[in-house]
Amino acid sequence: MCETCNKAGKGTFYVTTPIYYPSDNLHIGHAYCTTATDTLARFKRLQGYDTFFLTGLDEHGQKIERKAAEKGVSPQAYVDEICVNTKKLWEIMDISYDDFIRTTEERHTKIVQKIFEKLYQQGDIYKSEYEGWYCTPCESFWTEHQLVDGKCPDCGRPVEKAHEESYFLRLSKYAPRLIEHIKSHPEFIQPESRANEMLNNFLLPGLEDLCVSRTSFSWGIPVTFDPKHVIYVWVDALSNYITALGYLSEDDSKFRKYWPADVHIVGKEIVRFHTIIWPIILMALGLPLPKQVFGHGWLVMDGQKMSKSIGNVVDPVVLCDRYGSDAIRYFLLREMPFGADGNFTNEALLARINSDLANDLGNLVSRTVAMIEKYYGGVLPEMGERQEVDDNLIALAEALPGKVIEQAQGLWVNVEKSMNALQFSNALTEIWKLIGECNRYIDLTQPWVLGRSEEGKARLNTVLYALAECCRIVGVLIAPFMPKTPARIFAQLGVEETGLQSWDSVGRFGGIRPGTVVHKGEALFPRIDVKKEMEALAALNPKKDAPKAEKKPEAKPEDKAAQDEAEQGLIGIEDFAKVQLKVAKVTAAEAVKRSDKLLKLTVQCGGQTRTVVSGIAKHYAPEDLVGKTVVLVANLKPAKLKGIVSEGMLLAAADDEKGLLRLLTVDGDIPDGTEIG
Ligand code: ME8
Repeated sequence: MCETCNKAGKGTFYVTTPIYYPSDNLHIGHAYCTTATDTLARFKRLQGYDTFFLTGLDEHGQKIERKAAEKGVSPQAYVDEICVNTKKLWEIMDISYDDFIRTTEERHTKIVQKIFEKLYQQGDIYKSEYEGWYCTPCESFWTEHQLVDGKCPDCGRPVEKAHEESYFLRLSKYAPRLIEHIKSHPEFIQPESRANEMLNNFLLPGLEDLCVSRTSFSWGIPVTFDPKHVIYVWVDALSNYITALGYLSEDDSKFRKYWPADVHIVGKEIVRFHTIIWPIILMALGLPLPKQVFGHGWLVMDGQKMSKSIGNVVDPVVLCDRYGSDAIRYFLLREMPFGADGNFTNEALLARINSDLANDLGNLVSRTVAMIEKYYGGVLPEMGERQEVDDNLIALAEALPGKVIEQAQGLWVNVEKSMNALQFSNALTEIWKLIGECNRYIDLTQPWVLGRSEEGKARLNTVLYALAECCRIVGVLIAPFMPKTPARIFAQLGVEETGLQSWDSVGRFGGIRPGTVVHKGEALFPRIDVKKEMEALAALNPKKDAPKAEKKPEAKPEDKAAQDEAEQGLIGIEDFAKVQLKVAKVTAAEAVKRSDKLLKLTVQCGGQTRTVVSGIAKHYAPEDLVGKTVVLVANLKPAKLKGIVSEGMLLAAADDEKGLLRLLTVDGDIPDGTEIG
C-alpha cells in the first residue's frame, strides 16, 4: 500500500548500473548502460512499482591513484572533480537515479570495513601470500595460465607481477552452491549464453580463492584490523549495491525494503565479477542473491569496443547538444538488441532520427494537430461513427494495459514482455507499430479529401479524434525511453490532466476530451540534412573522420598487398566477420500492398521480433513461408521499403535470368538467434 496515495502498489523494483570508474572522458558507451537502466526504472515507476535506481562512482584502486599522481593532485581531489562532471552528464541525459553512491563516502567505507571484518571473523577471509599477475586497468588478478600471450585475457593490456601478503576470500567453499544456484535459476544470468560462459570458463574448471586485499598502494579502504592492507577494489565496489541501501547501518529500512535487487545491469566484461564474486560475498553474509544480472553488449566502433584508451570515443554531450538527449536515448535503445554488441556510426544515428523520429513520430503529431487547426479551428471534434478502418486502428491502440492482460495478444503484452526481458529495441518496435499504423490510417482515410465536403467532414471528426487520441497514447508509451518528448506532444494536443498522461490511461481509448484546444508547436524532431551534418560531425572529430580527399601517405608494402586484393574482389576474414548472419524463424508473412514483388515477414531471432521486407513475392506465397528456418543478415542498417522499415535481409539463391529464387534454409533443428559463420 502506498503511504501517500493509499492505493495498492505493485511492489518494489530495485535496479542498478555498475558504479563507473571516474573518467574525465565519459563516452557514449558509458551512457548506453545508464540510459538502458534509466529507461527500465522509468518504465517500472510508470507501471506503479516503488522503484529504486542506483548508480554512482567506483573511486578507489591503483588505477585512480596513478592517474591522480600523473595529474599532480590528490586522488580525492581527482575523483571529486570527475564526480561533478559525471552528474552533469546524467542530468543532460535525464538519468533519474534515486541515489548516487561514491565509494569514498563514509556511509560506504564504514560498512565495507564491517563486511570485511564479519567475513574474517567467520573464517571466510584468511591471511596468506599472493603470487600472480595483476591487470591494473581492469583491477583483476590473473594466474599464469589464464594470461593470453602474457597479457590480460580481458583487455589485452600488459599485466604486472604481484607478490604480496594478502587476505583471501574462500570462493572455493561456496562454488558448489553457486553452480547449483546458476543451474536451478536460469533467469539469474542473462542472456543465457553468459551463464554458460561463467559455468564453463570459470566455475566448472574449479575456482581458486580470491585475493581480497593489497599492500602495494594505499588508495582504498583500509582493513580495520590490519591497516597496511586496503580492501580489493572489486569487493569494495560490489558492496555498493547494499551499502547504498543502509545495510548494517543504523537505518537499514531501504535495505529491508529493496534487497534483493531485481536486476543488476552490467557490461558483458564484468558479468564475471557480478555472478561469481558478488554472489559468494552475499552467500557468506547470509543474504539473498540478486534476482538477475544482465550482461549487455558493447557499443563498438569499427569493430572495437569504444574506450578512452583506444581513443575511438564519441562524446554524448556533443550529440545531445546537436540532436537532443531524447534522440540519442532513442537511438541507443532502438538500434541494437541489448545483449549484443552494436556498431555506432553517425550515419545510423542520423538515419534513425530522420526516419523514425522526424518522419514517423514528428510528422504524425504535426499533421494531426495541423489538420485539427485547419478544419476545426484547433478544437478537437467529438468522435463520430466508426468504420472498419477506425476499428482496426483503435483495436491496436486498445491492446494496451488496463485491458484484460491474460487474453490480450496485442501491442501492450509485447511491450511489457520485451521490457521484462530488457529487450528495449523490441519494445520500441512495438510502439512504432502503432505510430506506423496511424500514418497508414492517414493514407487510407485521406483526411485532406474528407475536409473538402460537408459529408466528408462527418467522417473527419472520427479520423482526427482517433489520431489525436493515438498521439496521446504514444506520448505515454514513449515516456520511459524519451522523457522530454511526451510533454511536448501533450502541449501540442492540449492534454493537461496528469491522469491522461498516466500508464493506466492508455488502455482506455477515448481519454482525450472533445473540445480540447490543440496548439501547433515546433517540429518535435526537425529533419536533418545528412550530408551537411556528416561533414559537421567529421569536422568535430578530425582524428577519426579525417577528410578522405587529403593526400594519402605512400602505401606501406602490406597496405599495397591489401589494395591489390581489394582490386581482385578479395576480402579479408575481418571484412566477412562484419556481416552478422543468424538463424531466424518466420512467424508471419503477408503481401505488401501496392507491390507485386515484396512480402512483409515477421521473424523471430534470438528473443527478438523483427520485420523483414523481402523481394520474394513472385516465388513464395506468404503461407508457404511461415515456420521456415531462414538465414538473416542481422546487422544490416534498417531500410524503408514501401513505407515499412525492414530490419535485415534474408539470404536467397537467385538466378534473375532464369527467374529462379530459393531461400537459404537451415538443416535440422537449431534455435533461432544462433550465429552462422
Ligand atoms: O567496470 N559499450 O567501471 P567502468 C557499452 N567500476 N558499455 C560500456 C562501454 C562501451 N563501449 N564502455 C564501458 C567498471 N561500458 C567498474 C564497475 S560495479 C560494482 C564496478 C560500460 O567505468 C561497462 O561495460 O569501466 C560497464 O558496465 C560500465 O560501462 C562501467 O564501466
